[in-house]
Amino acid sequence: MAIFVLASICDHHKRKTGLSAFYSCRCTVEKEKRKEVIEQAKQMILPIKENHQIHHSSNRDFGWPMMDHIFTDPPWKEMYHYQWLAEMAQEKVKKGGLVAVVSVQRFLDKLFPIFKGFNYVTTLAIVYKLTGVNAAGCFVPNWRPVLLFSNGKYKQPKDLVTDTVSVMSSPKDYHDWQQPLQPFVRWIEALTQPGDLIADPFAGAGTIPLACQMTGRRCVATEINEDMVKVGRMRLAA
Ligand SMILES: C[S@@+](CC[C@H](N)C(=O)[O-])C[C@H]1O[C@@H](n2cnc3c(N)ncnc32)[C@H](O)[C@@H]1O
Repeated sequence: MAIFVLASICDHHKRKTGLSAFYSCRCTVEKEKRKEVIEQAKQMILPIKENHQIHHSSNRDFGWPMMDHIFTDPPWKEMYHYQWLAEMAQEKVKKGGLVAVVSVQRFLDKLFPIFKGFNYVTTLAIVYKLTGVNAAGCFVPNWRPVLLFSNGKYKQPKDLVTDTVSVMSSPKDYHDWQQPLQPFVRWIEALTQPGDLIADPFAGAGTIPLACQMTGRRCVATEINEDMVKVGRMRLAA
């Protein structure tokens, strides 16, 4: 129902039907919203928060402190980002800390060798209730893997943790490659301790820093795109 309502209000996509019309319309609506949000964020002068820092910097140039964990979402087509991440994590993540990395199904085989110096803990999954349209070969990926490694032995929590979180779809109202907030809130809360310092070197629009703030964890993050830094800081200030 919602699909057809949305399709019918968007002149631009009148000739498309069903799911493809829905996604095209949603894409247009979200693109417009993103523009507005960026303009709004640019007007604000928001200082870096003490416990939830998003720095405008290349992660390569940043002076990373020792950290309890990393939760991050690198540009998934570019393996050199994961390579850099693994090297940084080896040096900066405390023993027993987690390294949670978002990826896509077709690159998982490349990630395991990159993270060979870590213990593999498990694969978490963000599951989409709405079927995706971006097929990879004949496969339509309906879930997004988040690989969980640890630097040395990870002390597991006593409470049970569900490894999937279902969301309607990935919102794109702040960033083209935005991740949904809820899975990170759930997993950060379940797998880390209040007050822990979590790093996100690829912050985008600040979804993971926001999840840290909502769960009482500290966060230090970098993002190379200045507009996104402003959007991230605006989300933290809201
Ligand atoms: C997949 S997006 C992250 C999206 C984020 N999880 C969200 O929900 O908004 C990856 C981000 O990494 C940033 N990035 C790429 N190379 C970087 C670098 N060397 N240093 C810092 N950020 C970088 C990109 O600008 C992009 O915003």
